Amino acid sequence: MPGAAVPIIKTVMLQDEAASERLGARLAPLLRARDVVALEGDLGAGKTTLARGLLRALADDPDMDVPSPTFTLVEVYEFPAIAVWHFDLYRLKQAEDAWELGLEQAFGEAVSLIEWPERLDTLLPANRLEVRLQAENGGRRATLAGDSAWASRLQALA
Ligand SMILES: Nc1ncnc2c1ncn2[C@@H]1O[C@H](COP(=O)(O)OP(=O)(O)O)[C@@H](O)[C@H]1O
Ligand SMILES: [Mg+2]
Repeated sequence: MPGAAVPIIKTVMLQDEAASERLGARLAPLLRARDVVALEGDLGAGKTTLARGLLRALADDPDMDVPSPTFTLVEVYEFPAIAVWHFDLYRLKQAEDAWELGLEQAFGEAVSLIEWPERLDTLLPANRLEVRLQAENGGRRATLAGDSAWASRLQALA
């Protein structure tokens, strides 16, 4: 990933899909406009699952449909308090193409949840929260990394 190395804040083991959704739900209340959350991990790592839990928590609707933005590249959610732009940039050909998706508006006024953030190269903001997901023992290990501002905000996570 571009920019300075991002310090690790904490790691958590997610035993099943529900645990991935729950981590997303726990992050939800900590987020505010202009936050960028980079969801890193291979195909099938659980990035969309975590985003789904986060979005359902913000919607206060456990059954809300949260499609993967695989083909649309971005899905926009307008909640009363905040807007969330959920990107899946796997199919992005070059970083600059993301401007056409509305990247500037997302970064300027919303929360940006970004799958395949490495596709943005140097366009990815340095003050992002990184959530790295890796398969481990049938579940997933989540590593949260970010600057000291993120470290203090994440203290609210049990
Ligand atoms: N913590 C977990 N343990 C086991 N399976 C998980 C976990 N989190 C998600 N999954 C499963 O991984 C699969 C891929 O998830 P998905 O969120 O679509 O991945 P990605 O968006 O990273 O490609 C889904 O079948 C989902 O149920
Ligand atoms: Mg996905």
